[in-house]
Amino acid sequence: MAKMTVKDIDLKDKKVLVRVDFNVPLKDGVITDDTRIKAALPTINYVLEQGGKAILFSHLGRVKTEEDKAGKSLAPVAKRLGELLGKDVTFVPETRGEKLEAAINEMKDGDVVVFENTRFEDIDGKKESKNDADLGKYWASLGDVFVNDAFGTAHRAHASNVGIASTGIPTVAGFLMEKEIKFIGEAVEEPKRPMIAILGGAKVSDKIGVIENLIPKADKILIGGGMTYTFYKAKGMEIGNSLVEADKVELAKSLIEKAGDKLVLPVDSITAAEFSNDVPTEEHAGDVPTGQMGLDIGPETIALFSETLKGAKTVVWNGPMGVFEMSNFARGTIGVCEAIANLEDATTIIGGGDSAAAAEQLGFASKFTHISTGGGASLELLEGKELPGLAAINDK
Ligand code: 3PG
Repeated sequence: MAKMTVKDIDLKDKKVLVRVDFNVPLKDGVITDDTRIKAALPTINYVLEQGGKAILFSHLGRVKTEEDKAGKSLAPVAKRLGELLGKDVTFVPETRGEKLEAAINEMKDGDVVVFENTRFEDIDGKKESKNDADLGKYWASLGDVFVNDAFGTAHRAHASNVGIASTGIPTVAGFLMEKEIKFIGEAVEEPKRPMIAILGGAKVSDKIGVIENLIPKADKILIGGGMTYTFYKAKGMEIGNSLVEADKVELAKSLIEKAGDKLVLPVDSITAAEFSNDVPTEEHAGDVPTGQMGLDIGPETIALFSETLKGAKTVVWNGPMGVFEMSNFARGTIGVCEAIANLEDATTIIGGGDSAAAAEQLGFASKFTHISTGGGASLELLEGKELPGLAAINDK
């Protein structure tokens, strides 16, 4: 990577500020998925092994008012981190001030401090999310060096990533940031070929940037999910009650023209009269009849996609093929997972968000080379955009 990493600086006896993305799902104070905490462990352990003091911080959820703070403390995350590290982790329920400074001053080499949700600073004038320079300066003043390992937040220019880096403090990438950029960056910019992108999800509008960026780079782009029907509409097909973005039909037309035979659309759908798992399903080739809505790709499409994927050396997947949360409409996503799992000698990447959750829930997570921890960040990387959090890290 062209950016400096933790391996390029001396961490011994240093107060090491580590921006992690611990924005994990919580239900009634219990973490329901600790993937992002586990993904940060290599960097944290490395800092500690090198004799540094690790000062960790992250946002959690979105906080606009005092009431929003409820249930968004990083306290349960600090506790889980302590269990995973097998050592004491000091949690400071502050984002600034004497208590935090005292806790940091008392740290010995190998100690870990986690401080409170950086977005608690958003209540008065969105200081964190607006990249307030004074806040960035204050946080930078708490340490000697800055390690940014928050890939999931790299598409945001906030005080806790870009703001700290902008003060001139030595700023390097952690191992997670490095790994994510390596896998997703290489898959898009210098893929082993054939390179196939599989794009699903409900809306074309979420994927326009990705499709446009990948048309010249991918060998094939397979489309699934709810956005199929905006493309069908663009082709003049019947879509029944399927989801459609009427204002994106023209755009879908131009994407079909631009991509030519690179773009592969579903040839059949699993449909139902309602968005429900409790009504009878139907299978339709091509047009979706009146009264029905397309909720998954059909068996012919699974076969077509599996055939197209044969021999692929790089696969990038973002967005489920159907409403996988309902068993009646999960077969398309399972079929695509199976086809990817059967590939030999291919680099297979899931670009975070819903598709990562689908692979996890359907039991295919271990079959992929890389599952990104970033939803928005990985999408922006697939769109070919510069990520501000990454750009702010010192070049090698
Ligand atoms: C994410 O979960 O995508 C990141 O943590 C960023 O969170 P945000 O969308 O609230 O900025």
